[in-house]
Parts: sequence; C-alpha cells; structure tokens
Amino acid sequence: MGRGPTLQGSLVEVTESAAIAAAQTMGFGDHERSDQVASEAMRHALDNIDITGRIVIGERQRQGTSIIVDGDSVGGASPEGSGSVIDLAVIPLEGTHQCATGAPGAVTSMAAAEQGGLLDLPDVYMEKIVVGPTARGVIHIDAPVPENLRNIARAFGREVSDLTVVVLDRPRHRQMIHDIRAAGARIRLIPDGDLAASISAAVRGTGVHAVMGIGGAPEGVLTAAAMRCLGGEIQGRLIARHEDQKKLLDERGFDDLQQIYSSLDLAPGEQLFVCSTGVTDSELLRGVRFFGGGCRTSSLLMSLTNGMVRFIDTIRRDDTLHPVQFY
Ligand code: FBP
Repeated sequence: MGRGPTLQGSLVEVTESAAIAAAQTMGFGDHERSDQVASEAMRHALDNIDITGRIVIGERQRQGTSIIVDGDSVGGASPEGSGSVIDLAVIPLEGTHQCATGAPGAVTSMAAAEQGGLLDLPDVYMEKIVVGPTARGVIHIDAPVPENLRNIARAFGREVSDLTVVVLDRPRHRQMIHDIRAAGARIRLIPDGDLAASISAAVRGTGVHAVMGIGGAPEGVLTAAAMRCLGGEIQGRLIARHEDQKKLLDERGFDDLQQIYSSLDLAPGEQLFVCSTGVTDSELLRGVRFFGGGCRTSSLLMSLTNGMVRFIDTIRRDDTLHPVQFY
C-alpha cells in the first residue's frame, strides 16, 4: 500500500466530497436522502483515485440504497496496476438525522489499510468502551461502571465528577446511564454518532473522556483504526440484537459472542489511515460552510504509519478570483 502524500490527499478528498454533498441537504428533513448523496459522492470520489480498493465495511443498508456495500471493488487504478491495493471501511454519513435537521455531530469518515488490516465484520451491534491515550490500559469492558470511571479519573488525575462520558441516547442504556450518574460522572447523551464521539475522546481538550454503550459494529472497526492512530483504546463485544443479525454472525463464523475485541483485533493493519470531515459542527470539526462561490471544510487525517495527525482546513472556490478569507 502506498504511503505517499498523494494517497493521503486523495483520501481526504473522499470524505470532503461526501461531506459537501451531505451538507447541501442539511436541514431538509430527509435523512435517507442525506445518506444517499453522501454515499454517491464518496463512491464517485473513490472511483476517481488511483487505488484498487475493497470495501470491507460498507454503508449501512437502508431501503433503496446500496452504493458502497461490503465486498465492493472501488477505485480507478490504471490497467497497468500502478495504484495501491487497499482495504477500506467507510461511513459515508454518520449522524444522518443530525444532518437532516441541521443539528451538530454529523461527519463523514473512512479508514484505509493494507489488505487484511481492517476486520471484516457484518453490520451487527457492538458493546463498546472507548478511551483516549491518557486512560489507555486502565479500563475493562466487564468491569463495573463505577470501577472504570474511578480508573479513568485517576488516569486523568481528577475526580470522577470531572469526567464526561458520551452515551448514545437509547432505552437500552437506561441502566448504564443510571450507573454513570450514580458514580457522579457527567453524561453527554447523543442522538447518534459514537464514532465521532470516540475520536473526540482520544483528543485532549474536547471535554470527552470516554464513550460507553452499544452502537454499530462497523463504527467499532473505524473507532479501532482511529484509536490505533491516536493512541487510545476500544474494547468491544459483538451483539446480535435481531434474529437476522444472529444469522449473519453464524454465517460469517462469528460464533463466540463472549469474545472481547481489542483495537488491534478490530484494526490489525500497520498502514492505517483514518479521515473524517465535518458535515455539521462538532467538538472536533467544523461543519461545511458555503460562502457563495465555494465552500470550506474541516477534516482530521490520522496515520498510524508516521504518527501524523493533521487538521485540514480546505477552501474550494468556483473561481480563483474569489477572495480567500482568513478565519
Ligand atoms: P445513522 O447511521 O442514522 O447516522 O446512525 C449512526 C449511529 O448512531 C452510530 O453512530 C451508532 O454506532 C449506531 O448508529 C447506533 O445504532 P442504532 O441507531 O440502531 O442504535
């Protein structure tokens, strides 16, 4: 797999394109349409870069959309085969409802690795606990909530009451929310978006110290790739919440539902890249801003290979005479 700046730049353009397309539908109240245009834009951008890509984790299957699905081949590698051969995990739009209502927290994300570098998981659920580098190694998915919180607080050198834990706002988390509150930590309940929240947990200064609860397994794989790039940690366990998900896991040979997956199990690659672009504002990334004659995007590109983390501010203009504005 190529490590060059050209590939990294191309990957950023993939999440940027999806973010711009999704942002054009912001507030129109149609989350499926937002998701679809993001997927189309991502697919188009992927097919225009010089890679031979295999989609390991594709878009979530919704009615009528199947634009980038598991097993798809993407990329526009020349017939001479000069392009890199890579595996990809994509979330063309996380926070479809946030995009549809203009609420904060919608992002587009993608992870890339050498072949075999991202675990090929079906679209089931995953129980997760995620922390950044400060608290890496002090958590355990099976430890009681108060114990994990005490250990995280100690790692940060503060009280449990100074922690903020992000949890998806779902009825299934009622007991966990109760336990977190009883332990004295603060909670940020989010409507969607545990991948974006997990990335925030691994960056100091965002005010997020941990993410806990059950979310999508695909998001778990991208989270693992991001944690490896950022030095954080995810522990996850697969969960089938419906009969068809159980069948899917059986068919794919995931028969041990007690297995705890580490970041390395979920994203074992050595040449990992993760890129996210904001669609609407979040702790870490600003949403797409249209200024009449162009737009401006905020992205985060992480690489395990060289330890690089880049915040990328891109201005696209319809013509080069359009003035560029400093912040
Ligand atoms: P959207 O695909 O609707 O944007 O939702 C994304 C997400 O909230 C993830 O962040 C999370 O892991 C998963 O969905 C949770 O699934 P569910 O909404 O079924 O609880």
